[in-house]
Amino acid sequence: MPLSAAQLAHLQTPLTIGNRTFGSRVLQSPLAGITDRSFRRLVRTHAAQSLMYTEMVSASGLHYSRSIPAIMDIDAGETPVGIQLFDCRPDFLVEAARIAVDQGADVIDINMGCPVNKITKNGGGSSLLRDPQTASQIVEAVAKAVSVPVTVKTRLGWNDAEINILEFAQRMQESGAQLLTVHGRTRAQAFEGAARWEWIAQVKEHLQIPVIANGDIFSIDAAIRCLTLTGADGVMCARGSLGAPHLVGHIDHFLRTGERLPEPTNVDRLRRAQEHLHLLFEFKGTLGVRQARKHMGWYVREFPGAAVLRAQLMRIETVAMGDQLLELAISQLLEAEPLLV
Ligand SMILES: Cc1cc2nc3c(=O)[nH]c(=O)nc-3n(C[C@H](O)[C@H](O)[C@H](O)COP(=O)(O)O)c2cc1C
Repeated sequence: MPLSAAQLAHLQTPLTIGNRTFGSRVLQSPLAGITDRSFRRLVRTHAAQSLMYTEMVSASGLHYSRSIPAIMDIDAGETPVGIQLFDCRPDFLVEAARIAVDQGADVIDINMGCPVNKITKNGGGSSLLRDPQTASQIVEAVAKAVSVPVTVKTRLGWNDAEINILEFAQRMQESGAQLLTVHGRTRAQAFEGAARWEWIAQVKEHLQIPVIANGDIFSIDAAIRCLTLTGADGVMCARGSLGAPHLVGHIDHFLRTGERLPEPTNVDRLRRAQEHLHLLFEFKGTLGVRQARKHMGWYVREFPGAAVLRAQLMRIETVAMGDQLLELAISQLLEAEPLLV
């Protein structure tokens, strides 16, 4: 079923979040260990106006360390970027949110969806779904403390027996959240099974603030199916962007124009991988090269020799090693398929 004309017209208007307006309704999710400055720079080359989020930042960590972690760095001109915070203490979150605004955040997002034990056992992430009162105090306190919009990203509930997203979403709105992103899975599901977009449709029906749908947006078609089914005000890409920093921009372009930009060829992907490797090294040195390995694996898709190349890239120690492997693979692909550059 295609999007209705009214829905499409709505999706082509800017996204208003509280007192700010953003030019796109396709967002890049926060991804710990992934959405650093290098990754965001690549996403930005395809999606000029999309709101992107940093990796999640621990408000307690920030309070006790008294120094600002590099994951809160935002490049000049990178805007719009939201900084995502997690914790269960309203006072620490207020302190962290003020720092995030000083760092240049356009939006503060509170993580109420992370399923990882290390986070939930301290009362943060998805455990806030079980403690709506604290969640509400957090949103109220942070919204009062900063002038930029405060958004919340959450899940359907703790598990199938405790799906409480409808009440929870309402409460977040009443507390001052100015946008809600709903990942259509429970905490117990982690990342398993299909995202249940039908729940997001219900949330959308009940709220006045914008609702962003998240979960399983791996392609333009998935985004359209999700938007049609949920009536959401936008979509947020997450794992779909791994090795594919163009995804957000391609969905955005399709919504604006109806045109599907050509999918990157294998050669395009390898060139992107090389660029990513160089950026990671520029920002983080040797640590960046180690972090680049997983990205390399995501860029190298199916072509003859891909598995061997992937295994070799997983072991790179230097940029030069990566360059050598990628350049050789690019020249082999060009020789084999000169018309498919
Ligand atoms: C490696 C990884 C890191 C993630 N880090 C964060 C994070 O820092 N903050 C957050 O709100 N969600 C995080 N998520 C969840 C995603 O933002 C998203 O909600 C989830 O992957 C569902 O979307 P998808 O099915 O399209 O991947 C992470 C997911 C993955 C796979």
